[in-house]
Amino acid sequence: MTQLENVCLSQDRKQVIIIDQTQLPNRLEYLYLDKLEDCYQAIKKLQIRGAPAIGIFAGYSMYVLAQQYVGLPYEQFRAEFIRQKEYLNSSRPTAVNLNWALERVLKVVEDNREAGNEKIVELLGREAEKIHEEDKEMCLKICEYGLTLLHDGDGVLTHCNTGPLATSRGTAIGPLLLGAQRGMNFHVFADETRPLLQGARLTTFELMNGGVDVTLICDNMASLVMKNGWVDICLVGCDRIAANGDFANKIGTSGVAILAKHYGIPVYSLGPSSTIDLNCPDGDHIKIEMREPSEVAEMWYKERMAPEGCKCYNPSFDVTDHSLVSGFVTEKGIVYPPFEENFRKLFG
Ligand code: MRU
Repeated sequence: MTQLENVCLSQDRKQVIIIDQTQLPNRLEYLYLDKLEDCYQAIKKLQIRGAPAIGIFAGYSMYVLAQQYVGLPYEQFRAEFIRQKEYLNSSRPTAVNLNWALERVLKVVEDNREAGNEKIVELLGREAEKIHEEDKEMCLKICEYGLTLLHDGDGVLTHCNTGPLATSRGTAIGPLLLGAQRGMNFHVFADETRPLLQGARLTTFELMNGGVDVTLICDNMASLVMKNGWVDICLVGCDRIAANGDFANKIGTSGVAILAKHYGIPVYSLGPSSTIDLNCPDGDHIKIEMREPSEVAEMWYKERMAPEGCKCYNPSFDVTDHSLVSGFVTEKGIVYPPFEENFRKLFG
């Protein structure tokens, strides 16, 4: 595993290895997982996070776990597979990539009944690797398309974390990392992204590692930074894109888009086609994950910073209205409005 590879199989293929993202940037710790509950908790606790990375991890987890009950008769094997798949799927509701990857591996089990469980498990391993490989390819293309939107010296604002930790090679900050490799210079403002600070902890870490000039700002500073004329473009990720172009992304993204509209700054969301959910008509149909109050009131502080019993509202995502988005950068190109028509042409 290279330093920033976020997920892979162990050499004997019996464990999934991830970087524990909750420990970054202070400690680089790897987790070796082979139990259903540990895999579920890894997603739930955001030890592995970012929409595409969760999908990749889920595929590998199902493969590792299936090896442990390969000896069951097919019907019991399939029933156990579905039970575990549904449990993993319940770990986080918003990013569609989790369900998308789990459906892909289930199809392997259901399409190969006659082949026997040993063969099915082998095919599950191959499918999980394929999901991972495809994501790498998609990310590379997204980076190339994204780079066409950028100019040397641009000021860029980004929210949450969308680099190689959250995806295989990066989506929203991928073009910045690629541009830097090619000698381009950007000035990036990374929103800290309260309450879990993915921007402060992870985006700055990845951009600094990639040699990109980055300045950390608190979420409530974005307006001033835009007003100062320091932002030419906003690049953000996505966790589920509805058919009409409304999209869920880390809480605070819609605020960034509303501010950007006020200041006349284009907003692009970058993500692979596995994040587009054409079965979801619009943002009102996206389920938003609610998380523990302690993430707002306690985590990251030496001692509790809000009174005991204080009510906290802690939605993990918000939905940005499609009218605020200039375009979606996908592996098949940049999709402009009308989004539904153009998504269906490309991905329907
Ligand atoms: O709660 P997280 O950290 O999993 O949320 C992640 C985001 O919102 C990312 O911006 C999104 O998954 C895109 S990653 C390409």
